[in-house]
Amino acid sequence: MREQQNSPLPAGGETGRPVANSAGCPDRLDAVARVDLDIAAMRAEYGGDAELTETWLDDGWEPLLRNWIEFATAAGITEPNAMVLATVELTDGGPRPASRTVLCKGLSAEGVTFYTNYDSDKGEQLHAVPFASSTFSWPKLGRQVTLRGRVDQVSPEATTVYWRSRPRNSQLGAWASHQSRTVASRAELDRALSDAIARFEGVEQIPVPADWGGYILRPETVEFWQGRRSRLHNRIRMTLPGGAAATGTARVERLQP
Ligand SMILES: Cc1cc2nc3c(=O)[nH]c(=O)nc-3n(C[C@H](O)[C@H](O)[C@H](O)COP(=O)(O)O)c2cc1C
Repeated sequence: MREQQNSPLPAGGETGRPVANSAGCPDRLDAVARVDLDIAAMRAEYGGDAELTETWLDDGWEPLLRNWIEFATAAGITEPNAMVLATVELTDGGPRPASRTVLCKGLSAEGVTFYTNYDSDKGEQLHAVPFASSTFSWPKLGRQVTLRGRVDQVSPEATTVYWRSRPRNSQLGAWASHQSRTVASRAELDRALSDAIARFEGVEQIPVPADWGGYILRPETVEFWQGRRSRLHNRIRMTLPGGAAATGTARVERLQP
């Protein structure tokens, strides 16, 4: 018997739209749970932790960002180093924003580093407009950090060091995927991986693909956001006219929430 028969509503509910089953997969025939979703009513109350003030940035933006990533890690957040990277796509209709999640794999006074495919959409966009905005978001902690600035490729040596730290499966995946290009089917993707496995069988050190490597976002501004009660959140922004590492000349300002 299908579980949907226990539901007072047919699978798909009153609207006839597919209902998510327990695997999060819309499936009219196998709905096991019906959730009355009131998105407008969803809200969290923030606050309770120590008040973010300008003094938290006395040592610069990098130690505080590092501290917040550590805090998120200690709080058990999955991928605490994930950030949403926004770039600019130049289209025939004019510039358009584009965003996606990447993992921060390096943090220094110079900026935040991530690794990707240089020929991907984001790679092409960064080639045309080498500026980005990147947001770390930890809603569970009521915290967010946004960095905006110029993006440059890291040195091939730095890419190689990181590449060698990656699991072999991830290296093979990078060889198999022409990121952002279309693919006819899942089977074709699986075949590309099998080809990569065969190609590098017996090769101990898989080389870095020519189209793969790191980028560093060197922030011109870094904004730390902390959720507070009554939506009177704390926003402290550091502006770095002398460069990301020149915190001595930085300006620190509080912004209205
Ligand atoms: C949690 C998470 C982490 C990700 N990390 C990366 C990453 O570090 N590098 C990367 O190229 N893509 C990463 N992705 C996939 C990207 O979001 C994106 O799908 C991919 O880079 C292609 O983006 P593009 O077509 O805009 O270039 C990640 C996705 C998620 C959900």
